[in-house]
Amino acid sequence: MKAAVITSFGEPSVLRVTEAPRPVPGPGQVLARVHAAGVNPAEILARAGAFRLPAPAIIGFEFAGVIEAVGSGVDEGMVGDRVAGWPDSATQGSYAEYTVSSNFATIPDGVSFEHAAATVIGADNAARALGLLNLRPGETLVVTGASGALGSAAVQFARQRGATVIGVAGASNADFVKSLGAIPVAHGPGLVDRIRAAAPGGVDAALDTAGKGLLPALVEVLGGPERVVTLADRDAARHGVEFSPGGSGNRDSRPVQEALDLIAAGAWTARISRSFPLDQAADAHRLVATGHTHGKVILLP
Ligand SMILES: NC(=O)c1ccc[n+]([C@@H]2O[C@H](COP(=O)([O-])OP(=O)(O)OC[C@H]3O[C@@H](n4cnc5c(N)ncnc54)[C@H](OP(=O)(O)O)[C@@H]3O)[C@@H](O)[C@H]2O)c1
Repeated sequence: MKAAVITSFGEPSVLRVTEAPRPVPGPGQVLARVHAAGVNPAEILARAGAFRLPAPAIIGFEFAGVIEAVGSGVDEGMVGDRVAGWPDSATQGSYAEYTVSSNFATIPDGVSFEHAAATVIGADNAARALGLLNLRPGETLVVTGASGALGSAAVQFARQRGATVIGVAGASNADFVKSLGAIPVAHGPGLVDRIRAAAPGGVDAALDTAGKGLLPALVEVLGGPERVVTLADRDAARHGVEFSPGGSGNRDSRPVQEALDLIAAGAWTARISRSFPLDQAADAHRLVATGHTHGKVILLP
């Protein structure tokens, strides 16, 4: 199969498309023909060597595609199903024509592979973080990174659950954040005052998905760190804030299914910035590394 194989970690140019063995689904796994792979900030770190993955590695931590074959213990009737989820291995990922997975949601009719791939990691992590915040209907939530994959999912789940949402993002994304149902607030100096002005009744909780040093401002607005959670700021402990790590142990396909069903119903937005053919994976990584993609970057293996 064709895959972007990393033989030594480093600059984007280490993503080289070449032939690689097609993986074989083991017990409980399916083999999926990958039609779209989301490109994530974590994959930028993985490619640069931060996770010390063994080489050769095929990265890519979310996928959408079609089940081509199944391993033992999996219903043969699933062959041909359109699914979106997580590759089981960090080194047999979705930057390839095929991957193996045991954790996925079903893509409803009318939802594209690109939109499905763009939904997996955002919906899962946003839902988990909102669960930690124990958000109740009628409460006011601040979401930073509201224009991004995780933040836009958090805004939409919080709105679905009856919260008022202040969405912090770049000024050029204000209209997008508003279209998700949030009150847009620009990031940058003066953030605390702008959030207070947007929420005269006060703020009950905050979710940081930007990871750009915004925790002191969120703690100040809330008057304490108890109802602040970050998905992205490794300095969380220093501010008394809970960091919620993602990972293979806590992935939940149910919020992904919920978001995909809402896309099919016209009630959820998974914004795509740009799609690249697999052999332009390095350019896709350069775009994601800017931190301002204006939507999900997708690879089409
Ligand atoms: N803990 C976990 O489970 C987990 C899982 C997946 C991802 N993550 C992390 O979550 C973060 C977001 O991922 P993503 O895929 O949602 O990224 P993304 O789609 O690229 O979104 C990035 C967001 O950050 C905002 N931003 C960029 N620079 C900023 C700044 N200086 N100040 C304030 N906001 C800024 C962007 O706003 P504008 O473009 O509008 O300026 C955008 O809303 C990444 O750090 C990623 O590694 C964590």
